Amino acid sequence: MSNTALFPLSDEHKMILDAARNFAQNEIAPIAAEFDESGEFPRETIMKMGEMGFMGIEVPEKYGGAEMDTLSYVLAVEEISKADASHGVIMSVNNSLYCHGILMFGTEEQKQTFLVPVASGASVGAYSLTEPMSGSDSASMRTRAIRDGDEYILNGRKSWVTSGPVADFVVVFVMTDPDKKQKGITSFIVPSDTPGFIRGKKEPKLGIRASATNELLFEDCRIPAENRLSNEGDGFKIAMAVLDVGRLGIAAQALGIAEASYEAALNYSRERDAFGKKIGQFQGVSFKLADMKTRIEASRLLVYNAAMAKERSKTTNERFTLATSTAKLFASETAMFCAHASVQIHGAMGYSKEYPVERYFRDAKITEIYEGTSEIQRLVISRLETGLR
Ligand code: CAA
Repeated sequence: MSNTALFPLSDEHKMILDAARNFAQNEIAPIAAEFDESGEFPRETIMKMGEMGFMGIEVPEKYGGAEMDTLSYVLAVEEISKADASHGVIMSVNNSLYCHGILMFGTEEQKQTFLVPVASGASVGAYSLTEPMSGSDSASMRTRAIRDGDEYILNGRKSWVTSGPVADFVVVFVMTDPDKKQKGITSFIVPSDTPGFIRGKKEPKLGIRASATNELLFEDCRIPAENRLSNEGDGFKIAMAVLDVGRLGIAAQALGIAEASYEAALNYSRERDAFGKKIGQFQGVSFKLADMKTRIEASRLLVYNAAMAKERSKTTNERFTLATSTAKLFASETAMFCAHASVQIHGAMGYSKEYPVERYFRDAKITEIYEGTSEIQRLVISRLETGLR
C-alpha cells in the first residue's frame, strides 16, 4: 500500500514523508502500546520531534520553525499518527492550535517571546477554548477576564485541554464582555508559571491515552495586557480561524489511524486461515478491505486538497473552512469505519491488547469528537453551502 499512489509529491514532500515515516516506525511504533497503557506523556520522543522540526513545520525559520508548506505538515502528521495517534495529536495541537494562532494574530514581540520556544520544540504549547458547560457552544463560556490597569485578571475553569498538563504556554479564550456574547470574547497567551494558573484534574480517556488532557483553573491569574492576542472582542473569530487549521491536523491524524487499521487488516487477512483458506479469500472480509481502501483514498484526496487550500490562503487570504471541515468530517468517519472493520476482521485477536487494532479503535473515536464534532462539521458545511442559518 502506498500513500502517494493518487497524488504526485515533490522531492521535498517525499523527503519529509520519508523522515516522518522512518522516525514514526523506528522510534514511536515500538513504544506506542506501552505509553497507551501507562498514560504517560512521551516527552522524549516529542522532544526529538522538536529537534527534527516537526513541532513548528510551517513556522518561518526566524520564529524557530522549519518553514515548510502545509502539505509537508499534513504528510508528517499522517505518518506520525499511523504509528501512534497520541503523538499525532500532540504534534497537531502544537503546530496548528498554538503556533498557527500566534503566527496569524500575534505581534512581532509576541512571536519572539511565545512562538520561538514552542515552534522550535523546546517548549510545549496548548489551546484552551472548551469549558465544562460549553463544548460545541463555545461562545457560552463563563471564564472571565477583567481589566485592571495594565493587566487582566482571569478567573474560571477550562476543560479538555490537549497537552494542558505539560504545556509551557497556553492560548486561552475568555469572556471580557459577557453582554456582547461572541463579540465579547478575547484571547490571551498565558505562561504556565503565572501565579493563579492551576493545572486541574487529568482526564482519564478511552483513547489517545499518551496525550495528556486536563482541566485548567484560573484563580485571580494576572496577565499583562501585552499578552492579549489581537483586540478585545476578536477572540471568537480567532478561535474559529485557528480551528480551521486544527481540523486539518485532526483530519491528517484520522487518515493515519485509518491507514494503520487497514494495513493491519490487510496483513492479517493474508495470513489467517479459516475453513481451509486465507480469510482474505472470503467475500465477507475482502469487501470490507475494498471499502476501507476506497474510503482511505477518498479521505486522502480531501485532506491533501484542504492542505493545498490552506497553502493558497497564505497569498489570497481566503478562508478554507469548507475544505478543512469536509476533510475532517470524512477522514474521521473513515478512521472509525476502518478501525471498526479491522477489529472485526481480526476477530478475538482484534479485541486483544496483543494486537494494536484495539488501540486504533479506541483512538479513532476522538477524531469524530474533538476540534468540532462530526455534527458541528455538518453544520458548518451545510451553512456554507446553503447560506442559511
Ligand atoms: N474563520 C473566521 N471567522 C469565522 C469562522 C472561521 N472559520 N467561523 C465563524 N467565523 C466568524 C463569522 O464570520 C461570524 O462573524 P460576524 O459576526 O462578523 O459575522 C462569527 O465568527 C460568528 O460565527 P457564527 O455565527 O457562525 O457562530 P456560531 O455561534 O453560529 O457558532 C459554530 C458556530 C460552528 C457552532 C462554532 O461555535 C463551533 O465551531 N463550535 C465547535 C467548537 C469546537 O470545535 N470546539 C473544540 C475545541 S478544541 C478541542 O477540541 C480541544 C483540544 O485541545 C484539541
